[in-house]
Amino acid sequence: MNYNEVFKRSLERPDDFWGEVASDIHWYRKWDKVLDNPDGKFYKWFKGGELNTCYNAVDIHVENGSGDLTAVIYDSPVTDTKEKITYSQLRDRIAVLAGGLKEQGLRKGDTVIIYMPMIPEALISMLACARIGAIHSVVFGGFAPKELAIRIDDAEPKLIITASCGIEKYRVLPYKPLVDEAIQIADHKPEKCVILEREQQKVEPMIEGRDLYWRDVIKDAAPAECIPLDSNHPLYILYTSGTTGKPKGIVRDNGGHAVALKWSMKHIYGMEKGDVYWAASDVGWVVGHSYIVYAPLLLGAATVMFEGKPIGTPDPGAFWRIISEYRVRALFTAPTAIRAIKREDPNGEYMKKFDMSSLDTLFLAGERCDPDTLLWSQEHLGVPVIDHWWQTETGWAIVGNFKGMEMFPVKPGSATKSVPGYDVKILDEDGKEVKRGEQGVIAVKTPLPPGTLITLWNDDERYVNSYLSPYPGYYYTGDGGYMDNEDYVYIMGRVDDIINVAGHRLSTGAMEEILAQNPDVASASVVGANDNLRGEVPVGFVVLKAGSEREQDELEAELVKAVRAEIGPIACFRKVLIVSDLPQTRSGKTLRRTLRSIVNGEDYNIPSTIANPDALDKIKKNVHIIGYGKK
Ligand code: COA
Ligand code: AMP
Repeated sequence: MNYNEVFKRSLERPDDFWGEVASDIHWYRKWDKVLDNPDGKFYKWFKGGELNTCYNAVDIHVENGSGDLTAVIYDSPVTDTKEKITYSQLRDRIAVLAGGLKEQGLRKGDTVIIYMPMIPEALISMLACARIGAIHSVVFGGFAPKELAIRIDDAEPKLIITASCGIEKYRVLPYKPLVDEAIQIADHKPEKCVILEREQQKVEPMIEGRDLYWRDVIKDAAPAECIPLDSNHPLYILYTSGTTGKPKGIVRDNGGHAVALKWSMKHIYGMEKGDVYWAASDVGWVVGHSYIVYAPLLLGAATVMFEGKPIGTPDPGAFWRIISEYRVRALFTAPTAIRAIKREDPNGEYMKKFDMSSLDTLFLAGERCDPDTLLWSQEHLGVPVIDHWWQTETGWAIVGNFKGMEMFPVKPGSATKSVPGYDVKILDEDGKEVKRGEQGVIAVKTPLPPGTLITLWNDDERYVNSYLSPYPGYYYTGDGGYMDNEDYVYIMGRVDDIINVAGHRLSTGAMEEILAQNPDVASASVVGANDNLRGEVPVGFVVLKAGSEREQDELEAELVKAVRAEIGPIACFRKVLIVSDLPQTRSGKTLRRTLRSIVNGEDYNIPSTIANPDALDKIKKNVHIIGYGKK
């Protein structure tokens, strides 16, 4: 298939293009209109159509005679467990849980928060919600109770599904106390908590009238059938970092999502039904939603759920073992994971111990792919390594390479070309397209293709203001970059206050709010410092209130503890410097970009708008105290 033809058609005749693609999905009722886009803002894909995502992901394969195919491969080195679940078994487990949840009063349109580790029950919970039209919102296990509470207050779940613990590199982390604390902090109180008791951790205490054991919910439950849902009925809410402390609840529909994801499995990832596909991420992130759970199952492939890390569980050979043991055809991970492996096994010795012949592609995303990581992977794996760029908002790739359609030569530093459906443009500050090779803000001409966000949960206004208002007629991505003469797109990083730590998207604004709450802190700024392993890590700067005489080490420890307690360990916030002044413009804006350059030991120009140039000199002189600056 020729990329240019497909790409052109997707933009010029989106109704025909996506209408044909949608015939690959089972509909109870065919849509009236492929794209309904009356105001250019709140578009509805497959308006009037009715389907069920769980039916398309699971039941359909059983009904088509593929019930014995493997659907889920669970491999957990941290609990020494391996399990294969067929499509038939998966359908039965989902249907029984869905039935049990219904008996607990869960109905179509209700919301459910899922706070779970990487175990099959997380995927089963998501699909059980989808089966009965409940809207799930999965929260990543590394978030602290405060972050969970913010999501509880926004999503207002009727029910929370959790497990007694997660396991981080063999360390048991009880989840129940975190959930209890979050519910206590939150204003909204869920009616029920369903808790899966894992053998590593008992559930204590059970709160009467609210807490239920998973085993009791499914015991004697009558299996629930899939129900027809409007194409635009929300499938899930997934919170992601915005530029303030309040995360954004990305809303995904059922119809557009199923259509786009199944298409992407074939055309971007080049996968076929029955293949083994492995996205080494976590169900708490968008990669986990799209490519651990929904897309592989929609295709009828087997998905791997790996409860472990690229290193330390037990060694840097973990990924290669999984690939050889289950004959994985495509691996999708973040560059950080490869950097971690490369650091411990630079010559790829562990790889040599395994038969890796099943692997035909490595896909990377979640953060910028540095050329070293790309080249190392190409050299050692001997398969194409494809960088592709996307966001929680879009749910699938905006820019990529097309294993199942047409593969373009890889140019290091570029995520290759626009995915069909996405009309990517590089704009200057006035919203005009820049020349090829010039940097600007990356935007996508609206409408976005199916599968992308339909709004923000309970906040249509923020959806419009954040994404559509900055450049009318375009979706604003928040990333900067450029396009070359051959339409290759280069992503240079965020142009807003979001950083990317080990493939995890975090808001510096949220961290600044926590620092500023300290009684001794007058003002605070957080910027991303380059990091060899995690890509970026946050570094804080604080100005003390007049009269405060706190010591550097003591206050730093206190602030590090506060961010860990409020956001969670995944923030990797470990360094704060007390400064006498933050560099600011005359209008009072902190010069974060300049601070960043100082932290990274890079040269910088002093902006002409600066109000206090001395502040920069002082920070430059002292930043070595926390281990940064020119070496
Ligand atoms: N539940 C609870 N805590 C968690 C957690 C979870 N699900 N995930 C991470 N954490 C904790 C870790 O235990 C660690 O805590 P610590 O400070 O007490 O040691 C902290 O959060 C930082 O985690 P992480 O950045 O994962 O550090 P690590 O040293 O455990 O692992 C890497 C480093 C590079 C191996 C790891 O970050 C990694 O695998 N990255 C790939 C990321 C990825 O797949 N992203 C998905 C996007 S595609
Ligand atoms: P998230 O919403 O957590 O998936 O994070 C999305 C952000 O991660 C994007 O806006 C980018 O800044 C960054 N990102 C994701 N994939 C890539 C990539 N392939 N190259 C560069 N940056 C990326």
